[in-house]
Amino acid sequence: MMMTMLSPLVLGIISLLGIGAQAAFDAPPGVQIWCGKAYRPENASFNPGGWLEAPASSPSPLLNVKIYPRMNLYTADDQTGSFIVEAAISNIHGAPYYNTTGSLQNNGSVSSESFTTLYVDISDADSGNALVSGANITVNSTANEFSFSLSNLTARTNPYNIVLYGASQDGNQTYTATTQLYRLPSRTDGGSVTKLDYLYGGLMVQNYLANSTTWSPIFPYSYYVSWDWLSANLSNLDALKSDGYNIVHLIPGGSTAGEYAFNITLLDQFLDRMDTLELWLMYDMRWTYQNQSAVAEQVNRIKTRKSLLLWYTGDEPDGNGDPLNATSIAYSQIKSLDPYHPVSLCLNCYNFHYQAYTATGTDIVMEDVYPIAVNTSYSTVYGTVCNTTYGCCGCDDCNLFTPFRSISGRLDQLHAYDVWLDTNPPKTYWGVPQGFGASQFWTRYPTPAEEAVMDVLRLNHGAKALVAWTFPTQPDLVDVTSRLAAVLTQQETTAFLLGAQPSGVVVSAGNGTLGNADAAVWVQGGRMLVSVVSLDYEDVEGTVRVSLPGNASAVSSVLWGNGGWTVSGGALMKSGLSGLEVDMLILDLS
Ligand SMILES: *[C@@H]1O[C@H](CO)[C@@H](O)[C@H](O)[C@H]1NC(C)=O
Ligand SMILES: *[C@@H]1O[C@H](CO)[C@@H](O)[C@H](O)[C@H]1NC(C)=O
Ligand SMILES: *[C@@H]1O[C@H](CO)[C@@H](O)[C@H](O)[C@H]1NC(C)=O
Ligand SMILES: *[C@@H]1O[C@H](CO)[C@@H](O)[C@H](O)[C@H]1NC(C)=O
Ligand SMILES: *[C@@H]1O[C@H](CO)[C@@H](O)[C@H](O)[C@H]1NC(C)=O
Ligand SMILES: *[C@@H]1O[C@H](CO)[C@@H](O)[C@H](O)[C@H]1NC(C)=O
Ligand SMILES: *[C@@H]1O[C@H](CO)[C@@H](O)[C@H](O)[C@H]1NC(C)=O
Ligand SMILES: *[C@@H]1O[C@H](CO)[C@@H](O)[C@H](O)[C@H]1NC(C)=O
Ligand SMILES: *[C@@H]1O[C@H](CO)[C@@H](O)[C@H](O)[C@H]1NC(C)=O
Ligand SMILES: *[C@@H]1O[C@H](CO)[C@@H](O)[C@H](O)[C@H]1NC(C)=O
Ligand SMILES: *[C@@H]1O[C@H](CO)[C@@H](O)[C@H](O)[C@H]1NC(C)=O
Ligand SMILES: *[C@@H]1O[C@H](CO)[C@@H](O)[C@H](O)[C@H]1NC(C)=O
Repeated sequence: MMMTMLSPLVLGIISLLGIGAQAAFDAPPGVQIWCGKAYRPENASFNPGGWLEAPASSPSPLLNVKIYPRMNLYTADDQTGSFIVEAAISNIHGAPYYNTTGSLQNNGSVSSESFTTLYVDISDADSGNALVSGANITVNSTANEFSFSLSNLTARTNPYNIVLYGASQDGNQTYTATTQLYRLPSRTDGGSVTKLDYLYGGLMVQNYLANSTTWSPIFPYSYYVSWDWLSANLSNLDALKSDGYNIVHLIPGGSTAGEYAFNITLLDQFLDRMDTLELWLMYDMRWTYQNQSAVAEQVNRIKTRKSLLLWYTGDEPDGNGDPLNATSIAYSQIKSLDPYHPVSLCLNCYNFHYQAYTATGTDIVMEDVYPIAVNTSYSTVYGTVCNTTYGCCGCDDCNLFTPFRSISGRLDQLHAYDVWLDTNPPKTYWGVPQGFGASQFWTRYPTPAEEAVMDVLRLNHGAKALVAWTFPTQPDLVDVTSRLAAVLTQQETTAFLLGAQPSGVVVSAGNGTLGNADAAVWVQGGRMLVSVVSLDYEDVEGTVRVSLPGNASAVSSVLWGNGGWTVSGGALMKSGLSGLEVDMLILDLS
């Protein structure tokens, strides 16, 4: 995570593996790059390429009919599944749409009406068997869910090809969409299954210590954990668990680095302990994911672990300039060996070959924007300016004026890329908060207040897990993240975060919008979670107002912050907002 650029140990491992430290891309020979850009003062700026642009708009409206399964996989144990069908009006993707259809009247005549309902049939494309028949969807709606019986879909490792046919009532306008559906054999080897909910982006697991067969959402909240530190004492795992972290992302490498950068004997002892604690594992293959035999050996060794939550391949593959096909090669290999767990990777660049690294390369896209105590326009490490074609400042193309906006902007940008690419099924986004400092580009650690802002701001912009870089860290950061862990991983909060998507709402004070504040709401189960984050180091005085959608009636509970909020006239109100204040509240709806 940017540590990689400078560490001689790491470079040693890279060259051992025979991966070129100097990527090709558009760089002249001998020019080292980060995010495709030259960053050494001896080298000149050139256009790094790989920049994804918004597609051209269609002059007339399009109907973007899409289908995907609710869950990335079902198993033989599941009797029903569901599909999500979208029919959004778009100006970039979809098929032509005009707002008229013939409608058959009772007296036999046909009258012309607006085209507001799409008639839909969904079937197994290969057998022709119907799965959902005669469903009706409102034009320009998304998140339409249709359940179906899995009984005719024999469990197998290959996916089923699914096709949706949609039409206007007169059949004049027709639409086709396809997806793939997995119904996998049940596990018989004791290993866990992690499902990914494509609708809301959350992971689902079964509590194996209780032998539970029900699926529960898990909001992963933790750190990338130093193996050097962790491996010194088995009880470090118990300490992480009691701090409230629910997963461990093991960073491979360190003094015991072997072929996989772990001492396998020792690793097994730690994984046994994690199995016992139900402390979930995020297994990182950053140094080896491009080596197919190393991937095979690791995946086969780890895949039957009860505590395995997910895999992690490229660590900043875009920054490092890993081959453009590296993540997708690893992804398909991992899925062929273990179809039961999702795959993740972390991108560091603002906009560098996003599609190549992610489209068929990962289920989960992580961002590691580290905006605290860093000069993002001048590289203090390399002594060059940083801009969109040159330099490495530790935070690629970051916001010069409101550092925190680099985080929310990046998450919004990743989402925009997937809208531009019409990515289907959807990607999930996770955040890597900055939990380090006083090294390389960063002059100090974040304060606890900054840490809470970075975490909760990410939630407001759709992050479905937080895994900070790195543990161990400063005691005050352990303190604040441990308190946040308790709030975010409790069932009540997780039900909102992984049971809805956030909608941004406006914060205002005095006469205008507070651009330096960020708020979002999640509506779920007849209640609303509201999160308000000040991105300003200064206090704001006067009445602060958070506009709320719908019918909030009262504050039910305060999850984070000092309270003082009341609900009145469709808004959440309070006197003043402190610098870097963070509030999370649950509201009742009337
Ligand atoms: C790039 O910089 C390196 C020193 O870091 C130098 O050896 C090399 O000649 C430069 N190449 C070009 C094309 O500027
Ligand atoms: C449906 O298509 C037919 C043939 O293209 C056309 O004559 C008719 O007007 C269309 N109906 C409507 C309601 O647009
Ligand atoms: C059929 O009914 C519609 C109203 O539903 C009316 O507008 C139309 O004139 C009727 N046509 C005939 C032939 O009766
Ligand atoms: C289609 O026309 C109806 C009636 O004017 C209107 O209510 C609806 O919003 C239109 N739909 C779209 C997608 O343009
Ligand atoms: C869809 O709409 C048609 C026509 O309005 C109606 O006959 C049918 O029952 C509807 N299907 C469902 C599943 O609601
Ligand atoms: C479609 O829905 C979007 C999102 O709700 C809305 O912004 C847009 O105005 C709608 N378009 C039409 C044509 O109704
Ligand atoms: C399974 O397939 C058979 C044969 O096509 C069909 O008759 C039956 O209704 C299907 N069952 C379900 C639950 O879809
Ligand atoms: C779960 O199942 C295992 C194996 O059958 C059994 O040993 C254990 O006691 C069960 N645990 C609980 C909490 O029921
Ligand atoms: C690996 O760890 C085990 C258990 O601590 C130890 O006995 C062994 O010497 C270690 N192996 C290496 C190569 O360091
Ligand atoms: C991956 O891309 C590299 C070029 O970077 C190429 O040499 C290799 O053949 C590709 N591998 C596959 C499996 O396509
Ligand atoms: C970035 O900075 C370099 C070095 O000053 C300069 O050559 C290049 O034109 C700049 N790029 C942009 C897009 O401003
Ligand atoms: C709101 O606007 C009025 C009139 O422009 C001004 O007098 C007042 O000071 C403003 N209040 C705040 C809190 O900015």
